[in-house]
Amino acid sequence: MKILVTGGAGYIGSHTTILLIEAGYEVVIFDNFSNASKESIRRVEAIVGKEIAVIEGDIRSREDLRKVFMAHKIDAVIHFAGLKAVGESVEQPLRYYDNNVNGSAVLCEVMSEYNCKSIIFSSSATVYGDPHTTPILENFPLSATNPYGRSKLMVEEILRDVYVSDSEWKIVLLRYFNPVGAHASGTIGEDPNGLPNNLMPFISQTAVGKREYLSVFGNDYDTVDGTGVRDYIHVVDLAQGHVNALDRIKNFKEPMTINLGTGNGYSVLEMVEAFERASEKKVSYKIAERRAGDIATCFADPSYAKEVLDWEAKRGIDEMCEDVWRWQSQNPSGYIS
Ligand code: NAD
Ligand code: UFG
Repeated sequence: MKILVTGGAGYIGSHTTILLIEAGYEVVIFDNFSNASKESIRRVEAIVGKEIAVIEGDIRSREDLRKVFMAHKIDAVIHFAGLKAVGESVEQPLRYYDNNVNGSAVLCEVMSEYNCKSIIFSSSATVYGDPHTTPILENFPLSATNPYGRSKLMVEEILRDVYVSDSEWKIVLLRYFNPVGAHASGTIGEDPNGLPNNLMPFISQTAVGKREYLSVFGNDYDTVDGTGVRDYIHVVDLAQGHVNALDRIKNFKEPMTINLGTGNGYSVLEMVEAFERASEKKVSYKIAERRAGDIATCFADPSYAKEVLDWEAKRGIDEMCEDVWRWQSQNPSGYIS
């Protein structure tokens, strides 16, 4: 089976491409490289030991997408392409709606033209807003507090409408919790542009000496130590969730919405300690103000993924931190090094 991976040069897409190829799928990567480097694909090719078909283009362009479907008989799409910085989405909402929402609609339109009607979409735990309780189940109320989150909610709804209009569509909405970690080779990983927004790359850049200290956003939450609690999931476990979803997609009778998380929550300070253990480096930090829009606690109930995908996360926080450290210490400047 041939799988189109939009955003396949990015962080989660590159890890998923490896597992897809290892599972026997053929992959075509489609990416506009707005937040990725071609070097990531070169390194994925080195890991899997073969060349990968890559088409540079934008999901908002029907012409770019038609080139893919004309050149390849695509059986299913894993749709990672999108912009993902929450703060930036508040400053540039139209750019986010155009890229994430319009881009996804155009993608579905062109898929339909070529009778390709299977899609796995990267959604996010952000669609649960501030959950009334944890762990979070898929049927919890949905809300969004910023344009990025709303773009994910909108695409989920668009895809459900697409199914209502044509029940031949096979749709899986995967809601990721907090992806971290890197491939065990240490050759690919998360390579944020500029100042990282997310905790794990900030910790690893502090440990490697690129940042002086981590600002811990608030220590007065109602959590184990006052700092925010999240469900960190190893990116390779997350990638495996996509492979399991793809293996089963033909059998799903209706759109599936599935949490991909571990079910365990760790605080910011617990993650700092775990990283110090893994790297044997000191991670200096200072307590700072709460970050606007943050919630205290977020972790998944992952039992539905176990039931319908026969999937569960296998890697714990120590392995996540060891793998991030291998990637960060071997590539202190990311792919440009
Ligand atoms: P990433 O930025 O590393 O990867 C996204 C890729 O999409 C990049 O390679 C980028 O160049 C490409 N892209 C962006 N807009 C495009 C467009 N218009 N046309 C073609 N390519 C385009 O991000 P990631 O962390 O790998 O995330 C992948 C997906 O998962 C995103 O949709 C993101 O919103 C979602 N997600 C990520 C997280 C997270 O914390 N990393 C959490 C939940 C959901
Ligand atoms: N944090 C810090 N200092 C930092 C960065 C983060 O203390 O420099 C804290 C945050 O306050 C939070 C925790 O670390 O308590 C995790 O923050 P991240 O920014 O890494 O992750 P979030 O849970 O805020 O958001 C992430 C993605 C979103 C996605 C959401 C749910 O960035 O895109 O998970 O999937 F929507």
